[in-house]
Amino acid sequence: MRITCIYYGKYLKAGASIVTSMTQFANPQIINPRLADLPDYPFERLRGLLDPLAPPAALDPIALSLGEPQHPYPDFVGEILHANRHLYGKYPPVAGTPEFRQAAADWLIRRYELPAGMIEADRHIVPCAGTREGLFRTAFLAVPPEKAGQRPAVLMPNPFYQCYAGAAIAAGAEPIFVSALAENGFLPDFAGLDEAILARTALVYFCTPANPQGAVASLDYLNDLIALSRQYEFTLVVDECYAEIYNGAPPPGTLQACAAGEAQDLSGILVFHSLSKRSNVAGLRSGFVAGDPDMLTLYRRLSEYGGNPSPLPVYAAATALWRDEDHVVANRALYVEKFDLAERVLSNRFGFYKPEGGFFLWLDVGDGEAATVELWTRAAIQVLPGAYLTAEDGVGDNPGNRYIRVAMVHERAVMEDALARIAQTL
Ligand SMILES: Cc1ncc(COP(=O)(O)O)c(C=O)c1O
Repeated sequence: MRITCIYYGKYLKAGASIVTSMTQFANPQIINPRLADLPDYPFERLRGLLDPLAPPAALDPIALSLGEPQHPYPDFVGEILHANRHLYGKYPPVAGTPEFRQAAADWLIRRYELPAGMIEADRHIVPCAGTREGLFRTAFLAVPPEKAGQRPAVLMPNPFYQCYAGAAIAAGAEPIFVSALAENGFLPDFAGLDEAILARTALVYFCTPANPQGAVASLDYLNDLIALSRQYEFTLVVDECYAEIYNGAPPPGTLQACAAGEAQDLSGILVFHSLSKRSNVAGLRSGFVAGDPDMLTLYRRLSEYGGNPSPLPVYAAATALWRDEDHVVANRALYVEKFDLAERVLSNRFGFYKPEGGFFLWLDVGDGEAATVELWTRAAIQVLPGAYLTAEDGVGDNPGNRYIRVAMVHERAVMEDALARIAQTL
């Protein structure tokens, strides 16, 4: 199956596609036809590619495909979960606890030097049981049946976090992939799209620091994007889950851009933050969304019907994590060390660059899928082909074809071994 979409590269091209191998349903009459357009998830595709192949028996396999940090998380997480275990018997509120909301608001104010009063814990913060579900749910808030009399469009960068495309499709919108390639600093030029597309845009997903390329949007870029969202009246969702993993200056945030704007207007703006990467607790499933209070009221309402809030002990542990910076500073230092190591081992091969943020290497290996197979069969290293994170352009080229994504998530000793195997194999 091919999903048509429009891709904006150097030129605007229509008819781009994501290639999928959709399951054949026995009775399509009982299936929501929109969902037939959901492509296979990248990790399903990776299993399809690598499962039939054996890695060398003499080597321990190392998975660098999934962005799942393996650095330790603070001991107090376990202690707090245990101390609050009596609360597992209670249904947790979708709005979280007052302490959680306050800790999140205080963190935003500290991290982005926001003016007092701009973020009120009870109006501007709602927890998510992991930001993926929140990012997905947002499309159901923000996509109307029509925009400017046409099928609404949802814009996202290309490459993109797959949840954005899935949410757009499930909400009935047309996903439009806007290229974020090396030649444009890995930042998509949303404003350069055709007027006709912008007019029917209901929602834009943007990610800074970007997964997978690690590009960081400047305050100017964010200001322009906010202005564009106001001009064309679309919801702007900025995924900032890698905001605390950086090499150099802290990446600016969208709320920081709003703070500098007129009346600190948050209308139409939602920003997502997660503990998964910041605090190495992907399995805790905890993050939050901040921004437009009206949208958050609707977000909470939708969650009341179909949400799955984090358990109360998780809110308690998450509250302590947002209040603590020591573990975040230590965590960041581990990544800086590992990127230094990668620079030494890979030197300037495969277009190596140190990303400004996030924890991925985005390596130009010529043929990402072939390199993935080679790394698995010869070195027991599992990476993700770049093409699994990108949509094809209008002439059948996939801008991710040349790349592999390498998640630098293991401890230094494991990464040292893994990087040496990559350098030897490719
Ligand atoms: C860009 C991006 N956004 C959001 C998420 C979701 O993170 P979580 O649901 O763990 O908060 C991920 C996870 O890999 C990601 O890479």
